[in-house]
Amino acid sequence: MSNIYISTHPLVKHKLTILRDERTEHKKFRELIRELAILLGYEAMADLQLADCQVKTPMGMAPGHFLQEDVGLVPILRAGLGMLDGIHEMVPGAQVWHLGLYRDEKTLRPVSYYNKLPVEPTVQVCLVLDPMLATGGSATAAVDVLKKWGVTRIKFVGLIAAPEGIQAMTQAHPDVPLFLAAVDEHLNEHGFIVPGLGDAGDRQFGTA
Ligand code: PRP
Repeated sequence: MSNIYISTHPLVKHKLTILRDERTEHKKFRELIRELAILLGYEAMADLQLADCQVKTPMGMAPGHFLQEDVGLVPILRAGLGMLDGIHEMVPGAQVWHLGLYRDEKTLRPVSYYNKLPVEPTVQVCLVLDPMLATGGSATAAVDVLKKWGVTRIKFVGLIAAPEGIQAMTQAHPDVPLFLAAVDEHLNEHGFIVPGLGDAGDRQFGTA
């Protein structure tokens, strides 16, 4: 479990509780997804490489640092979109590469419908953004795509995971750390995380 970070921060626990609440309306739900993504993304980016520099203040020179790596933010459509903007504000220079994946309702296998990655990788580190890690099919497929693209440092930033999803990801991609707000009990027969929060895409976009 050394590659799995489950936040113990009180703000994360508080916001996740409101996010789960079935009475939470779409606007508030979107705000919470955005805020939770910032808090978890902050942890996920704790090992970004820095270069040293000097900066001139009004009082003299001070030692400084700037980000040395090109960061790619990879939201999995649709539900990962809500996690993008907050993290993007923290790293405004990041590249955003959307991946369209939906789960076939019968097989629960991911189906790819959007991918505009160029041939050569243009970033050194990628954050895959998706609030739900259920069977893990979508996340493993997204990481497969990024590895084929040539990215070697990949992190998954989610909110709620099922044990089944964690097992699938750690088996397929043991090198990819998972940054999560909670691990729930199980998946139901439709592949939904229980107790979870319902359908993260529908609850953000009002499509339930
Ligand atoms: C949900 C969720 C994940 C995926 C998780 O997306 O947002 O992408 O399912 O399930 P998995 O771990 O079993 O792959 P969904 O397919 O409902 O699409 P949506 O985001 O467009 O609603």
